Amino acid sequence: MDTLTINLGDRSYPIIIGEGALCKLPEVLTSLQAKGTVGLVTDTNVGPLHGDKVVTQIREKGLNVKVCVLPAGEPYKRLAVIEGLCEDFLLAGLDRSSVILALGGGVVGDVAGFAAAVYMRGIRFIQIPTTIVAQVDSSVGGKTGVNLSEAKNIIGAFHQPSGVVIDLCLLTTLPDRELRAGLAEVIKHGVIADASLFEYMEDHVDALLKKDLAALTYPIRRSCEIKGAIVEADEREQGLRANLNYGHTFGHGIEAASGYERFLHGEAVALGMCAAAALANSLGLVDVAFVERQRRCLQRYGLPTHWPDMSVDAVWESMQHDKKAKAGKLKFVLPEGFGRVVHRSDVSESEVRRALETLLTV
Ligand code: GLY
Repeated sequence: MDTLTINLGDRSYPIIIGEGALCKLPEVLTSLQAKGTVGLVTDTNVGPLHGDKVVTQIREKGLNVKVCVLPAGEPYKRLAVIEGLCEDFLLAGLDRSSVILALGGGVVGDVAGFAAAVYMRGIRFIQIPTTIVAQVDSSVGGKTGVNLSEAKNIIGAFHQPSGVVIDLCLLTTLPDRELRAGLAEVIKHGVIADASLFEYMEDHVDALLKKDLAALTYPIRRSCEIKGAIVEADEREQGLRANLNYGHTFGHGIEAASGYERFLHGEAVALGMCAAAALANSLGLVDVAFVERQRRCLQRYGLPTHWPDMSVDAVWESMQHDKKAKAGKLKFVLPEGFGRVVHRSDVSESEVRRALETLLTV
């Protein structure tokens, strides 16, 4: 078992990582002096698989638990669900000293975290991520929120968790498609910050796709370290934190244009990374060998690197709603090599469209 600390002054918190890390939950609850009833938020996919294990750990502390099961999926990441959760918390008697647990993937973490951010103007919560995307990205860093049908994560709050418990054993039930989509975010961390992590991902495709937990430990831990260091330096995304959005300006446009249904988030990010690399190449930041090496790595994980029936117009339109745009200018995170990125907001519409067009042909 390994513990990393995210150092954010009085909002610092531990990330406990390992096979069986869930057994550390009672200790985390003790350190938070949790009392009364704990709110456990999960969804219809994860609740039946892992809910009981978490309830057992909570009861071991002599605490009561109110289980709130959300319908699974991105379409349920919306404001009405927050109202329902807050009503459940109130009826269960949760108060400002209570703790919420978010057991699930990115949607559960973002929704439960946002409910914790606004209920009684903010109560504590612990992330127990059950997907790779959530373990290496969304559970760390305090971004919480919900979607509007026009744009993803457009309503939200920065609200840091009080702890993150990453139990690798919970990944054994993760569907293969979700596994691959999560590994796209790990590859992203390699491209933005650590060439040797990228090489590790190239060298361990078979073991990682077989969910070899020993092979998964390093890239998950390293991703949390990379993300943690960025969040410590720039919690509220004034600059450096935007590096984490590599592939996301295109990726969010792709997700929105496809109605959030065709691609998982990580799949859209993989496509977005390909478009971003093509854009970087056309701006002279990287050579074709970089673009191809990144594409090949994503392909070996079974991730999409082309979308032949994409409507470039629809993706371009959706990208205009990007909340990171400033004065109507889209901001792109672009590679300069493996482990190095720059920010550019001087890119013309035609250059963006040309980069998207590279996704049309295989
Ligand atoms: N997933 C991007 C961030 O947390 O900033």
